[in-house]
Amino acid sequence: MSILILNGPNLSRLDLRDSDIYGAFTYPQLCEFIEKSAAELSLTVEIKQSNNESEIIQWLHEAADKKQAVIINPAAFTHYSYAIRDAVAMLKAPVIEVHLSNPLSREEFRHTSVVSGVVNGSIAGFGEESYALALRAMQKLLR
Ligand code: DQA
Repeated sequence: MSILILNGPNLSRLDLRDSDIYGAFTYPQLCEFIEKSAAELSLTVEIKQSNNESEIIQWLHEAADKKQAVIINPAAFTHYSYAIRDAVAMLKAPVIEVHLSNPLSREEFRHTSVVSGVVNGSIAGFGEESYALALRAMQKLLR
């Protein structure tokens, strides 16, 4: 079964966001990097992005029903969406939280992740490499 990669709000507009923080690549380039990193590990991924909290929750419910592993970058929802936290907590397979930037080195409101407490682990601050590291970690969790 493929690993679900879920990306939250505004990540689709990476090229318009602060490149000092997020890196100088577009969202399609990030997806290409994730696909390539997964292929190198002989993993398959299904990548989805939404700006809509309820859509993300729906996808998490479907992943729970399928017992699908999830790598999630909840973006700004990380910091306040208890609804996404509760949906992540219901997953039945491993789940990893990723961030391009290191939220702990940024504004104070980003220092809280309401999701971290219900995931197997979190990887942040390595730009697109955060996803490659998460895929490696996921491969071990799925063994
Ligand atoms: C982010 C960090 C969040 O604080 C921010 O709201 C994002 C992206 C990251 O990948 O670094 O949109 O999740």
